[in-house]
Amino acid sequence: QQDTFKQVISHAKEYGYIFSSSEIYDGLSAVYDYGQNGVELKKNIKDYWWKSMVQMNQNIVGLDAAILMHPKTWEASGHVNAFNDPLIDNKDSKKRYRADVLVEDYVEKINQKAQKEINKAKKRFGETFNEEEFVTTNPRVIRYQEEQKTIMERLAKSLTEENLADVKALIEELGIACPESGSKNWTDVKQFNLMFGTKLGASADSATDLYLRPETAQGIFVNFANVQKTGRMKIPFGIAQIGKAFRNEIVARQFIFRQREFEQMEMQFFVRPGEELKWFEHWKETRQNWHASLGLGEENYRFHDHEKMAHYANAATDIEFNFPFGFKELEGIHSRTDFDLKAHEEHSGKKLQFFDPELNKNYVPYVIETSIGLDRMFLAIFSSALKEEELEDGSTRTVLKLPSILAPVKAAVFPLVKKDGLPEIAQEIIEELQWDFNVIYDEKDAVGRRYRRQDANGTPFCITVDHDTKEDNQVTIRHRDTMEQKRVPISELKSIIAQEIDF
Ligand code: GAP
Repeated sequence: QQDTFKQVISHAKEYGYIFSSSEIYDGLSAVYDYGQNGVELKKNIKDYWWKSMVQMNQNIVGLDAAILMHPKTWEASGHVNAFNDPLIDNKDSKKRYRADVLVEDYVEKINQKAQKEINKAKKRFGETFNEEEFVTTNPRVIRYQEEQKTIMERLAKSLTEENLADVKALIEELGIACPESGSKNWTDVKQFNLMFGTKLGASADSATDLYLRPETAQGIFVNFANVQKTGRMKIPFGIAQIGKAFRNEIVARQFIFRQREFEQMEMQFFVRPGEELKWFEHWKETRQNWHASLGLGEENYRFHDHEKMAHYANAATDIEFNFPFGFKELEGIHSRTDFDLKAHEEHSGKKLQFFDPELNKNYVPYVIETSIGLDRMFLAIFSSALKEEELEDGSTRTVLKLPSILAPVKAAVFPLVKKDGLPEIAQEIIEELQWDFNVIYDEKDAVGRRYRRQDANGTPFCITVDHDTKEDNQVTIRHRDTMEQKRVPISELKSIIAQEIDF
């Protein structure tokens, strides 16, 4: 697992997807820059989300609220008081950890043991293996599952200000050691607020303390009435937003999984009170289908319903993904009740209500939220796409099997040789295709090497111009995954690529 993860990180750098921020100054911890290919993949993920959420739903509209918001926003939302991480220090190594993450990592190890049992049985029974039956009847797997459940329930209960001492007790009872030094000598658990502070105004005296937003959701809540009135929106309706969020994460690691500056794609769906659980189920299913449509592998997803809710929620589920370091949260779907709009009414003194003509009354709508980390989705796609494949001739190739619709470059166009007018024809093809797709020209090295380079970059098509092209106006088109080559007329290229990336 560790090796796969290292490969993912180095491949992302080598192919211009992700660099450490300010790398020439040795980087800035847990902050990353997206390179020439990364920015395209990221943009394609955003477009894919936006199209399915906003463009395809007549009752969902977009918003782009500012990162800086009035400081009262964060009092109302509860972030000033409650947006904390429980931290614990190891007395010997002097290293600081998130107490909940230490426990979660321990639980993930139990999960891996269970998975090993399943894999062993899969090998033993072959085709006849029934996984569902196995996990519900095998005593060892059942024991592992129960152990995980008990620990996670106890962790959820103890993550409140009054019960923090129990988090420490749990860590000690489980015998969790400092990952760096192996020491089990822990301090008490303390809360640490995650919001980044900054100041408004030129002089320190008149400055107002502000925060960089820790979630995009609040920009939507404070604009509820603006959008509802100007868009003449009728309940149920949604507001969607993609944008940066900032959290001063203490344990920042696992590459772009947990960053200090990251992007969220969030949608708040406003519904009639009492109908929220119906809509919660609807969005759970819709979001699961969205993920399934990308074909990253059903086995890489897990759905985790929360037994214990945040104070504002009455139902919540996590969509977890099998990252190179195990299953972790990728997206959250939350039934947030009327908590946020009511809190903003109280703090602002402004009404945030909807007049429902069918019921002939005003109410504060209830909210279902879908919230996915763009960078985490990027990592899910990138890490599950990276493969080492053995070929028939015994050689291996590195191939990035990105869903074609998300690939940064859709086609690379090669002249077979750098002479005889072939580069000019290749350039003409580029000029035609680039109106519709991101395409690139490559004439360096033998064609086989150029294929490998594009495979590793995730480019679905390679198009080669040869001497026959001058006679028959046809080119060779090769697909990344099958490596099959076909001769097709230049005039058909556009429709072949368009078909591959149809939404
Ligand atoms: N508005 C709800 C909200 O912000 P959250 O579970 O705190 O909920 C939502 O965050 C999503 O944002 C997560 O599922 C995750 O994908 C992403 N996310 C949260 N913290 C992150 C971080 N430090 N780095 C990258 N992505 C993060």
